[in-house]
Amino acid sequence: MREKLSLTILVAMFLSACVEKTQHEDAYDPARDYFSFANTEQFVTQHLSLDLVVDFDARELRGRATLAMRKLDSAAKDIVLDTRDLDIGNVRILLPGGESVTADYQFGDSDRIKGTPLIVGLPEAAAAATDFGLQLEYRTSPTSTALQWLPPKLTAGGKHPMVFSQSQAIHARSWVPLQDTPAVRITYGATIRTPPELLAVMSADNDPLAPRRGEYHFDMPQPIPSYLLAIAVGNIYFAPLGEQTGVYAEPELLEASVFEFADTQEMLDQAERIFGPYQWGRYDLLVLPPSFPYGGMENPRLSFITPSLLAGDRSLVSVVAHELAHSWSGNLVTNATWRDGWLNEGMTSYLESRLMEVIYGEDRVDEERVLSYQELLLDLETVPPDMQALAPRLDVGDPDDFQGTIHYSKGQLFLQYLENAFGRDEFDHFLSAYFDTFAFRTITTERFLDFLDEGLLQAESSTIGRADVEEWLFQPGLPEDAPRPSSRTLEDAKALAADWAARKIDTADIPVASWSPQAMVHFINSLPADLPNDRLAELDEGLGFSDTRNAEIGRTWFIQVAKRRFTPAYEKLERHLNRFGRGRLIFPVYLALAENGKDLELARAMFAKARATYHPLTDARIARALETARTGS
Ligand code: BES
Ligand code: ZN
Repeated sequence: MREKLSLTILVAMFLSACVEKTQHEDAYDPARDYFSFANTEQFVTQHLSLDLVVDFDARELRGRATLAMRKLDSAAKDIVLDTRDLDIGNVRILLPGGESVTADYQFGDSDRIKGTPLIVGLPEAAAAATDFGLQLEYRTSPTSTALQWLPPKLTAGGKHPMVFSQSQAIHARSWVPLQDTPAVRITYGATIRTPPELLAVMSADNDPLAPRRGEYHFDMPQPIPSYLLAIAVGNIYFAPLGEQTGVYAEPELLEASVFEFADTQEMLDQAERIFGPYQWGRYDLLVLPPSFPYGGMENPRLSFITPSLLAGDRSLVSVVAHELAHSWSGNLVTNATWRDGWLNEGMTSYLESRLMEVIYGEDRVDEERVLSYQELLLDLETVPPDMQALAPRLDVGDPDDFQGTIHYSKGQLFLQYLENAFGRDEFDHFLSAYFDTFAFRTITTERFLDFLDEGLLQAESSTIGRADVEEWLFQPGLPEDAPRPSSRTLEDAKALAADWAARKIDTADIPVASWSPQAMVHFINSLPADLPNDRLAELDEGLGFSDTRNAEIGRTWFIQVAKRRFTPAYEKLERHLNRFGRGRLIFPVYLALAENGKDLELARAMFAKARATYHPLTDARIARALETARTGS
């Protein structure tokens, strides 16, 4: 009897586990943010005010965050916020009448990626309030994943420290306790106290002429998602670029930045003409030290930019066009969750290409389209099929590692496909209606699809239907009729790579003087796999790739150097790894070394020497890749 019972129980347990699993699978909700603990269906934040001291000695921000909250569910008792490595002190509830009461709080279980939920119990006295303030005293940890604390020697000037934030995707919670999900939009205000000689800037109403007094006030009156909260403090100065545009940088980089980004105002003017009004007031750039982990980050009113764009010839400014374009796609109309990231990044990559085309002409944008298409084709070889959809299922893993070129290049190609199908005029009309309709809102892929369906697909003249679009959004790979970017100048460069490799032409005959850096990148990528290393030496001697000032050429060249084990250039390769900290420029070089069958240990040794200069996120990403890389055959 006992045996039988326990068998029955076992079977029942097994069955219920199966049911739970299928239920869990069925219950996947594309509109839910699986990367936040916040109970946003019960409470939402409307405004954030910060009062923070920036302490470079302790490497911490400390002070107070006050969240203006609204209760949506009258039965709700606990507020759950996102945090990571935050030290929380006193928590109070500010009642509408002006009184305040202490609230109890506790931390829930920590998750390696998502951080730690902070659960605040609403005290009895606050039970009846719909709108109230939640005030938290807190300090950040020196290892906050959002903040990089730079000692003076890692800045251009070498005399002052600097700190900057990178909140996307889910790092805002490591410098502010909040509902860290793009589903919630907040306005914010801040008082920031710094050492008196330094300037603080934020993703808000920066005042280029603010006197340096060690206390700065900010206001961001437009509601933004938490991943767009941003701060930087350092020896930063401002120079105007245009009427509404300018650039902040350390004084050592200011002149070069003014030259490189001189077209920013023109980009803004063209963007308004095509996509509709710019809704954010000023648009400035902040050029950061080399450790900034990305090419750029679209913090509203103040894009953060890598100094690796300072090539001296404006050849890499598509990143600025990209970050500016996010002022529409992303900052104005925001992806509901990281699973809809293509709505931010793919749409922005498409808008970026449109800006590049009006300002720099079709040849240049064709080159850029081909290069990103090539990167996409390479990625499609390695990304698992279920993650090749523009909007796949996403409920686990790290949103920072998610998608890459799928969101960007496949997304861009999809919008190009729509433009081709409906014609530019009609598609532009659709785009401005889209930005207008969803301005300051957060939407899912499904909502986009419905809007597209109503606006364009259902028209009698439409040559494509909902099923065609669903294939782009939800299926792996590329549809048969996907656009195939091509560029005459890149084809020439590719043909010359073959001719040169076959000794049909000499190194001196390669017309590099007339080539764009993009053509150079394509030339390097087109060199045959079996080219002997003495020919690479010839090329390097003739064209000086190892000494290039252009970070994209350097990236492409050193990936090849590592793949082909062209050891004479290893010293310069290491210099490249020490010079740049932007993930895109260094990560694939480390990976190529680690995977060439011989140099994993060398890659680890180079990383050990360089890593102190890297951003915590870049450092963690490379460390993980080099730990798991297998030693060569
Ligand atoms: N928003 C991204 C950067 C980002 C994405 C940070 C995901 C964290 C998680 C930014 O707009 C971007 O796309 N940067 C690119 C620029 C490029 C595609 C022009 C980059 O950094 O390379
Ligand atoms: Zn982007």
